[in-house]
Amino acid sequence: TAPITLATLNKYKAAGEKFSCLTCYDASFAAMMQAADIDTILVGDSLGMVVQGQSSTLPVTVADMAYHTANVARANTHALIMTDLPFMSYATLDDAIASSRAVMQAGAQMVKIEGGRNLVPIIKTLADHGVPTCVHLGLTPQSVNVLGGYKVQGRTDEAAQKLLDDCQAVVDAGAAVLLLECVPADLARTITERFAVPVIGIGAGVDTDGQVLVMHDMLGVYTRKPAKFVKDFLTDGNNHSRSIQGAFELYHQSVKNKNFPTDAHSF
Ligand code: KIV
Ligand code: NA
Repeated sequence: TAPITLATLNKYKAAGEKFSCLTCYDASFAAMMQAADIDTILVGDSLGMVVQGQSSTLPVTVADMAYHTANVARANTHALIMTDLPFMSYATLDDAIASSRAVMQAGAQMVKIEGGRNLVPIIKTLADHGVPTCVHLGLTPQSVNVLGGYKVQGRTDEAAQKLLDDCQAVVDAGAAVLLLECVPADLARTITERFAVPVIGIGAGVDTDGQVLVMHDMLGVYTRKPAKFVKDFLTDGNNHSRSIQGAFELYHQSVKNKNFPTDAHSF
């Protein structure tokens, strides 16, 4: 099937069609995701935790991200590939340009950066250089030491308004996609309805335009207690009832049909 581009995601949004996203870090799983028609692949800095065994995403480098992006890109012709710029690799405009160059030349088609209104100059500069950005808001794991843990964001009226204002600022600056992590479902719906750009959710309810999960989580491969928003598509809570390929297919269909996430996975 035809490659998914930013234009495809915009078309999905306009048509009210949901799209799937999974994290991926290597060629073998990228090939299986392609066979399952997964729409977008995130080469996430979560690789620091699930691949490298770090206790946060902070130790991940641009070289790590470029390496895994290249591995994924070799096996992929269908999904749009989005790659995280890791911690402190976009602290200045020069850093953002150099980091984006590395991951885009490795095969990414979009970069993802964490923050809010503080990212406005970076979003504009990258857009000027042909790099679309996905802005990750809500629970932003690179700021775990400021947030004081991995917790739901935007719960109070004040925090919700601040998140809405951040979304407005980054959309006005030219952000191509928003990604909301651990945001109350009502607030995520408001954001999805208010802005024209595609909105991807994780722990943000069923109403965002796209959904993402970390691949290891949705296969039940965890070394710690999974977050509330995680669903194991491999076993469905039973003993290994389907193949990995089947789990990717079930996830894709569940997102498209709005069967995932349910209230049990939302805040
Ligand atoms: O790195 C990652 O996997 C992510 C997702 C959890 C959105 O940023
Ligand atoms: Na990430």
